[in-house]
Amino acid sequence: MRMYDLILKKRNGGKLTKEEIEFFVKGVTDKTIELYHASALMMAIYFRGMDEEETLNLTLAMAESGEKMDLSLIDGIKVDKHSTGGVGDKTSLAVVPIVAACGVKVAKMSGRGLGHTGGTIDKLESIKGFDTSVEPEKFFDIVNTHGLCIAGQSMNLAPADKELYALRDVTATVDNVSLIASSIMSKKLASGSDCILLDVKVGSGAFMKTKAEAEKLAHEMVKIGNGAGRKTVAFITDMDKPLGNAIGNSVEVIEAIETLKGNGPEDFTLLTKTLSAELLRMAGVENPEEKVEKVISNGKALEKLALMVKSQGGDENYIYNASLFEKAKYTREIVAGEDGFISHMNAETVGVACAKLGAGREKKGDSIDFTAGIYLFKKTGDKVFKGEKIAEMYASDENKFTEAEKTFLSAIEYGATAPEIVSLIMGKIE
Ligand code: URA
Repeated sequence: MRMYDLILKKRNGGKLTKEEIEFFVKGVTDKTIELYHASALMMAIYFRGMDEEETLNLTLAMAESGEKMDLSLIDGIKVDKHSTGGVGDKTSLAVVPIVAACGVKVAKMSGRGLGHTGGTIDKLESIKGFDTSVEPEKFFDIVNTHGLCIAGQSMNLAPADKELYALRDVTATVDNVSLIASSIMSKKLASGSDCILLDVKVGSGAFMKTKAEAEKLAHEMVKIGNGAGRKTVAFITDMDKPLGNAIGNSVEVIEAIETLKGNGPEDFTLLTKTLSAELLRMAGVENPEEKVEKVISNGKALEKLALMVKSQGGDENYIYNASLFEKAKYTREIVAGEDGFISHMNAETVGVACAKLGAGREKKGDSIDFTAGIYLFKKTGDKVFKGEKIAEMYASDENKFTEAEKTFLSAIEYGATAPEIVSLIMGKIE
């Protein structure tokens, strides 16, 4: 078999066989396939798509490309959640400790930033000492002891996805239903939880720009998950504007911590509580909403986050004292250009502006600046006056502000009247 033939076939709209997909995934895993071949195939798939059978075969081949976690060593029901990616989406940082504080174990594998979106692993690494490359034995031990662990893709789980994920990030081949579904579900199947909750984002800051696309992605992933014997549910949630007010790495961790103390922004708090309650419901817990409220108000959820940080080598004092997070050297204030209402804030453009400040990667393996970010004081629907502060930008390199500010301002549209606000939770697929 030759990669050239696979690329040609897909480029011309053909269907890849199971054997061809397995050949490709094996070559990606053992690195015998050139990155230019893999990139070209990703681009051909991006334009030509894959049908359900090809998507399932790619998912299964990637799930089988490395080790598969046997979570039977951990007692009780294990749950997992995954977002398709957004801007300001720090939900896992709050949901995981809440669910664990309610007594349900969360064995979670997360990713790094992708395209204009941030990643949980990058965010957690802004806590001094925090180690996301946990070996399986330690992972089991931490989940058994404390009920939660968030690890990176270091455990040789779905290594083919790890390679392709990084490659797609820098070749503009992320936002395709089949590639996203197989990427997410290969990791979820390899990591072995009993229940999987998917947060499928839709809107300008999501990979899926329309509700119809998001529904297609959600249906495809729920079908793969349930077909593999895992209880799988998907929410479709709004990502037309950034989630919460903080975008970046350390700023998002701080916002998640505030939310666990009950002081989070309204939209992010609602999503956190909704997803936490659903995970508890999936695990068979009664009165989930009440339990979620309780562990936030009695501080147990925050304590769980601190325990997880400590058990993964991080300094748990960061959880109780946000001033320990390294601060960016420079801050720039951004003001409204007009009087009126913010009628639209393009979340993807805001994510790109944040990456330009140093919070994201331009090429595979780039290091990122944990202190870089944006804090929004105004979002879509808010009334503003010309010259009023709408955001702050943070960076370690002052020269990055000019481009980032230009990009950020291009994300904002003004109107004379308040725009219609869509609801955050747009649908649920079981
Ligand atoms: N998250 C993933 O894990 N993979 C994708 O392709 C997109 C979002």
